[in-house]
Amino acid sequence: MLTVRAIDAGYGPATVVRGVSLDVPDGSIVALLGRNGAGKSTTLKTIMGLVRPRGGEIALDGVRIDGATPHAINRRGVAYVPEERRVFSHLSVEDHFTIARRAETPWTLERIFALFPKLEPLRARRARYLSGGEQQMLAIARALLTAPRLLLLDEPSQGLAPVIVDAVVESVRRMRSEGLSILLVEQDLAIALHLATHVYILESGELVYSGSSAELRQNAAVQAKYLGVG
Ligand SMILES: Nc1ncnc2c1ncn2[C@@H]1O[C@H](COP(=O)(O)OP(=O)(O)OP(=O)(O)O)[C@@H](O)[C@H]1O
Ligand SMILES: [Mg+2]
Repeated sequence: MLTVRAIDAGYGPATVVRGVSLDVPDGSIVALLGRNGAGKSTTLKTIMGLVRPRGGEIALDGVRIDGATPHAINRRGVAYVPEERRVFSHLSVEDHFTIARRAETPWTLERIFALFPKLEPLRARRARYLSGGEQQMLAIARALLTAPRLLLLDEPSQGLAPVIVDAVVESVRRMRSEGLSILLVEQDLAIALHLATHVYILESGELVYSGSSAELRQNAAVQAKYLGVG
């Protein structure tokens, strides 16, 4: 599905992601981990075309997408849910859906509300009056309505109450079981290991680890060295 090969990216004169390569196979969840400032969000933004790669290649099903606009990349089947969620405070839940919806999306409102039952009674509510968890669900739902095959999720559990985290985690599992491929940035190692089959770790903009979730679960040394666990 997604192949990233040796990308360099950054802001102004600063290169913050160096030589990063990763794969997201069809229908899988792959996690990208690393400490604050490691370059996780920059990697997602580069895949989405929001940051222009300075070198390397990004391809979707073998077709290059690096250099394309975010809009064109979205049309090719990639959707991005940023860390900051970026919902429109004055628009209702339903307004968000209306704006995002692509004719070809398989995600009917019925399916969206089956995934996020909490949103259904809130459909007329403006986003500014939603809780953080509800806003996160709205941000994911909006992304789904653009009919992606690959979803880039940046720290969906961040700042949420445990019970809401569980609901979001369950929704990610269900999206995968409905055929989506997901590249997940997570700070919470337990969540990443629970959801993902494969894990990459970034440190200071470079990939320092790649392995299966089962492998990383056993590897206390890597967890301690790069994730500050233990
Ligand atoms: N818009 C920007 N302009 C300049 N530098 C930036 C910008 N965004 C991020 N950076 C820098 O790039 C580096 C990587 O940031 P990035 O947001 O990709 O890290 P991250 O792994 O997502 O961190 P976090 O876990 O805190 O979200 C950091 O040093 C950060 O300060
Ligand atoms: Mg980030």
